[in-house]
Amino acid sequence: MSETTPTRLPRILSGIQPSGQLTIGNYLGALKQWVQLQSDYDCYYCIVDMHAITVPQDPNELREGTRRNAALYLACGIQLEHATIFVQSHVSAHAELGWILGCFTPMGWLNRMTQFKDKAAKQQAESVSAGLYTYPTLMAADILLYQANLVPVGDDQRQHLELTRDLAQRFNSQYGETFTIPEGFFPKAGARIMGLDNPLAKMSKSDPSEYHAVYMLDEPDRIRKKIMRAVTDSGSGIYFTDDPAKAGVNNLLTIYQAFTDETTEAIEARFAGKGYGDLKKAVAEVVVEGLRPIQQRYRELTADSGLIDEVLAQGAAKARLVANATLNAVRDRIGFLPALDRA
Ligand code: TYM
Repeated sequence: MSETTPTRLPRILSGIQPSGQLTIGNYLGALKQWVQLQSDYDCYYCIVDMHAITVPQDPNELREGTRRNAALYLACGIQLEHATIFVQSHVSAHAELGWILGCFTPMGWLNRMTQFKDKAAKQQAESVSAGLYTYPTLMAADILLYQANLVPVGDDQRQHLELTRDLAQRFNSQYGETFTIPEGFFPKAGARIMGLDNPLAKMSKSDPSEYHAVYMLDEPDRIRKKIMRAVTDSGSGIYFTDDPAKAGVNNLLTIYQAFTDETTEAIEARFAGKGYGDLKKAVAEVVVEGLRPIQQRYRELTADSGLIDEVLAQGAAKARLVANATLNAVRDRIGFLPALDRA
């Protein structure tokens, strides 16, 4: 690179669906990493409302959830000098590239997606949408439009990221270098937080059970109550383990570790000889204290009614510039005639 060429920071793109209250799984698996990585990257953090509608959504709740996600991104510490926060549906290039990539995706690849199988199994077979099936090609479009180098996500997104990489490689080899091949970034602790009521299932924002998830905006007493009720086992040892019989204890320790960043050894030493009640109390306190400043900042940000919409308007304008540049290159590569009225 010549001395006069300005160096561009590598890019990040990631997103969260506005499909319910965000959980500590979303925080530890994604948001906390977004904040930690932000100063070393040019970041694009998206609210993926088009992904949310792959399953039925109430329109008012979707609008509310979209603004709430944006406010939570900021409340966690995302800074606008490092990151562009925007709504997926505000940048129509996502829909267009999603369609184009869909035409390059063998159905066999989509048939292998475990998340589709899991989500489809929760619905009546005849009401499963085509959008749920092609969800991964839209996600690939989100990432590839920004030429993202890194995609910080939880463990459940590994397969979608692999498909994105495969698609980008296939397109590049057919049409010439067009897309950056993205790498995944998965946190060491917190990539897979499990349900409190069922530690063998991933904690999810769409699970209806009251004691399944801690939400980022839960009141402290509610958080304590949920964690005190968490399913454990009839034994007594407190240590990190892959043993499914102790998945509840392992999950509580993982939550503790992801909030405190303490080492495995330090945590095991702290709880040696203690009971599950002590463990739960300690976990509840680190969660309450970890979320307290975020909740405080969230209240301040949402007290100003126009602020979030303004952030999203500016974000969409910035995102469009990057996304449209990639989309134009793709249109040209695949042989779409340029629209001469389009500036
Ligand atoms: P969503 O909304 O389901 O999840 C958002 C992020 O939270 C992570 N996550 C978890 N991490 C640890 N433990 C859990 N229990 C847990 N639950 C959720 C997810 O891994 C994810 O990082 N398909 C994406 C949304 C998306 C996207 C993208 C992500 C659409 N386009 C482009 C990255 C890049 C999803 O699962 O959203």
